[in-house]
Amino acid sequence: MSSSVGSLNRQAGTAAEQTAGLVAVAYAPSKTFLNAVTLQYVYVRELSGTNILINVGCPGYVATDLNGFRGVRTPEQGAAIAIKLATLPDGGRTGTFFDDAGVVPW
Ligand SMILES: NC(=O)c1ccc[n+]([C@@H]2O[C@H](COP(=O)([O-])OP(=O)(O)OC[C@H]3O[C@@H](n4cnc5c(N)ncnc54)[C@H](OP(=O)(O)O)[C@@H]3O)[C@@H](O)[C@H]2O)c1
Repeated sequence: MSSSVGSLNRQAGTAAEQTAGLVAVAYAPSKTFLNAVTLQYVYVRELSGTNILINVGCPGYVATDLNGFRGVRTPEQGAAIAIKLATLPDGGRTGTFFDDAGVVPW
C-alpha cells in the first residue's frame, strides 16, 4: 500500500500532491522507496518472471489515525483499491501504481 504523495512525477510537478509531499518530508520519500522496491520485485528480484502480479495502490485521503481523521474518504472507500488489486485476473497488470481513478505515474 503506497500513496500518491510517493509519486516522483507528482512531487516534481505543481499538483496538489506536491504540497502534501513537501509537508510529509519523511512519509512521501518512504513511499517513493516502497515504490522502487516494488519495481525491483517485478523486474529483477525473485518474483520476476513468475505469474504473481505485483502492484502498489493508493487508498486516497482516508479518515484514519494516520491523519487525525482529517481524510475525506471513508475506510470502506480506501479499502476498495486493496480489494481491486487482490482480485486482479490472472495475466492482469503488474508493475503498476493504481488508485481508484486508474494508473498513478511513478
Ligand atoms: N489514510 C490515508 O489518507 C492514506 C493515504 C495514502 C496512503 N495510505 C497508506 O495506507 C496504509 C494504511 O494507512 P492508515 O491510514 O490505515 O493508517 P493507520 O490508521 O495509522 O493504521 C496503520 C495500521 O498499521 C498497523 N501497523 C503499524 N505499524 C505496524 C507494524 N510495525 N507491524 C504491523 N502493523 C503495523 C497499525 O496497527 P496498530 O493499530 O496495532 O498500531 C494500524 O492497524 C498505510 O500504508 C498508509 O501509508 C493512507
